[in-house]
Amino acid sequence: MSDAAPETIYLSDYTAFPWTAKSVDLHFTLDPHATRVRSCIRFEPNPASPNGPESEMFLHGEKLKLIHAKIDGAPVTPTLTNEGLTIAVPSGSFTWEAEVEIDPANNTALEGLYMSGGMYCTQCEAEGFRKITYYPDRPDVMSVFSVTIDGPHPVLLSNGNPVVTSDNHAQWHDPWPKPAYLFALVAGDLIAHSGQFTTRSGRDVTLNLYVRPGDEGKCAFGMQALKDSMKWDEDVYGREYDLDLFNIVAVDDFNMGAMENKGLNIFNSSAVLASQETSTDLNFERIEAIIAHEYFHNWTGNRITCRDWFQLCLKEGLTVFRDSQFTADMRSEPVKRIGDVIDLRGRQFAEDQGPLAHPVRPESFQEINNFYTATIYEKGAEVIRMLKTLVGDQAYREALDLYFERHDGDAATIEDWLQVFEDTTGRDLSQFKRWYSQAGTPRVAVNEAWADGTLTLTFTQTLAPSATTADPQPQVIPLAVGLIGKDGREVASTQVLEMTQASQSFAFEGLTEAPVASILRGFSAPVVLDHPLSDAQRAHLLAHDTDPFNRWEAGRNLAQASLLDMIRTGVKPNAAYLAGLKTVVTDATLDPAYRALMMGLPSHSDLATALHDAGDIPDPEAIHTAVETMRTAQATDLAEHLEELYAAHQVSEAYQPDAAQSGARALANAALSLLSRNDGGALAQQQYASADNMTQQLSALGAAIRAGVGAPMLEQFQQQWRDDRLVMDKWFALQVVQAKPEDAAATAKALTEHADFNWKNPNRFRAVFGSLAMHHAGFHHGSGDGYRLLADWLIKLDPVNPQTTARMCSAFQTWKRYDPARQSLILEQVNQILTKPDLSRDTTEMLTRIAE
Ligand code: PHE
Ligand code: ZN
Repeated sequence: MSDAAPETIYLSDYTAFPWTAKSVDLHFTLDPHATRVRSCIRFEPNPASPNGPESEMFLHGEKLKLIHAKIDGAPVTPTLTNEGLTIAVPSGSFTWEAEVEIDPANNTALEGLYMSGGMYCTQCEAEGFRKITYYPDRPDVMSVFSVTIDGPHPVLLSNGNPVVTSDNHAQWHDPWPKPAYLFALVAGDLIAHSGQFTTRSGRDVTLNLYVRPGDEGKCAFGMQALKDSMKWDEDVYGREYDLDLFNIVAVDDFNMGAMENKGLNIFNSSAVLASQETSTDLNFERIEAIIAHEYFHNWTGNRITCRDWFQLCLKEGLTVFRDSQFTADMRSEPVKRIGDVIDLRGRQFAEDQGPLAHPVRPESFQEINNFYTATIYEKGAEVIRMLKTLVGDQAYREALDLYFERHDGDAATIEDWLQVFEDTTGRDLSQFKRWYSQAGTPRVAVNEAWADGTLTLTFTQTLAPSATTADPQPQVIPLAVGLIGKDGREVASTQVLEMTQASQSFAFEGLTEAPVASILRGFSAPVVLDHPLSDAQRAHLLAHDTDPFNRWEAGRNLAQASLLDMIRTGVKPNAAYLAGLKTVVTDATLDPAYRALMMGLPSHSDLATALHDAGDIPDPEAIHTAVETMRTAQATDLAEHLEELYAAHQVSEAYQPDAAQSGARALANAALSLLSRNDGGALAQQQYASADNMTQQLSALGAAIRAGVGAPMLEQFQQQWRDDRLVMDKWFALQVVQAKPEDAAATAKALTEHADFNWKNPNRFRAVFGSLAMHHAGFHHGSGDGYRLLADWLIKLDPVNPQTTARMCSAFQTWKRYDPARQSLILEQVNQILTKPDLSRDTTEMLTRIAE
């Protein structure tokens, strides 16, 4: 398989499968090394197939030992390859039966049926079902599944509703036709934390969260999040749950966050288990969002699925958008929006700027696992947000109602999705569709002209050509704009300007004085805005903008401009920024969570992106120095307020991970972080000693390490938490995150020698190497040690877990923006990995694209 040239798959080559699968019966006899899977599938000719009936059928299958196969009860001998089998078939309908043997205990790739901590579980998206049995493993083949499981375990689960459940034997039936990627099976010695939800039409649904013994105390929050999600989807989208049972299972070994299998969601334990003592406020918020995300997939993903994997954003972009709306409703809308934009810029803009850039709907790929990207998820969600902004809330809701009504049970496409908006609104969305087909982040430059009471804003959009988008065309860009007067009052409230041309002007008439324009309010489009404003104008927006996003953005722009100047010329931090920050941070009328965000700075990587955008070569060391200088300046400048900010935001009530308490802690801990630059870490030590929750404990530990007094606490932390896998992931990660740039690689290396460094566990591997890759100055240290260490471990991990290896390769995607010495250090490592024999298709594709 490895020496065959990797095959590229094209959207334009799509053809329907020649048969439909009327029913699928599966029978599992579980055994760690020799699980038997019997399948019985009724195939009928597919009237939608362009070629009519065919005489040979191809079924996907990988790493399967075929025991026997039959068609209509008669033994047959298929032709086998590494990718599947081919078999001659009758011209009409027929029944295919097969028995295969698989080895879940040796399945370290965590795709198909595998074992994790003694339990069996599955992961079938995108193409894992073919590692369970022979099947047309493509999302447009949807069928009704019945599953029988035999095995010596008290809990035996599959999709749908239970037909028979007893120790050692269970039967399940899922009435809703589904593609194989939504199949799931779980077996083991698990404990259920149960709950109940009554849908608005009166259906009683049993809810279970299955965990390993010992984790029972970490289920309550996830259960509540599930109920909140179910209610929200009824209230906001009119979507009800459709089975008697909804199960969630927590597993320790999982490549991603979680998976929306029909009625049986499987979660990385880090994405569902939560307790005050072991989880931070951010963990709670993320868990709530992921539970919502997977639950929302029941309609956007499962009831309506994707025709093919090129349409992945159809379910992911929409479901991310839905979960962001949910979090905004449950917590603070501006805080959620700012967090999402920070994340989008950090991950998606970086992807768009480099060799891995691809459209929200790609047109070709080699390995679909490599396309679960920030572009498809996060930019995919931004595209839907823009659509909603353009058509308005009511038309959005009508279009969604039509989508659910028209496409329920379908494997749909982006064309289907846009069509419901066209039919609802009468708009022509052909230009808007470019957001799905063109890669890259558009830049929008603003020119202002003021004359006779009229402000004219002229916008010019540009999109750099890229590998997949050679000749970019203008896109539809919703620009939300408001105007702020000299006295700080809003003189024009938000209006959405619809930009469709390469260059376009909009006039605001009847003004008495030149206002400051607040453009791209709420981050109304995923673009880079070039709006030349003076420091004084930015400070004015920071003080007065009525749009909370743009008010934050004004501070961010001031901070970033100052940091870029500091990096380029070594000047001191901008006084206007520090003064504006002080006013906002000490303004007790503002939400503490929002003020905490105001204290943030652009990440090192964001600064590198900005430097590269401006034609400079980023120097990671200079970036690190500038950020440290700025932090110290913040600590000095805010010194007289920090203790009070800290004290005023101590939470005295019993711990709750809600928005109010989390916000207070976020602000207090932002103050602590600066204070510990002034007090040698004394307050951090005090907080660490008295902390009764992980947010307080971990913030104190981080601050103490930075102040140079963290070593005894790190040791104590390890003693306290050595038996908690998820907390130990934090312990591993924090040491790398807090390392000095010159020590980062050595710290990571030392951690790989720790007895608890279980590198086959993706969470633990990411705790060390994800943290190293995100430590900009450490990973890109001029020694090249960071690059070498990561490459060595990716070489080791690839044969064990290609999917996680390939994802981690994106650490190298920005290589072109650095100096020639770093470029060649990185390329040397990339090529080193590429020369390994038997390198996986996943990793080969990623590194080949990166090195191109
Ligand atoms: N479909 C999952 C989600 O977004 C992500 C996932 C993809 C999980 C592939 C596992 C494998 O929620
Ligand atoms: Zn998803």
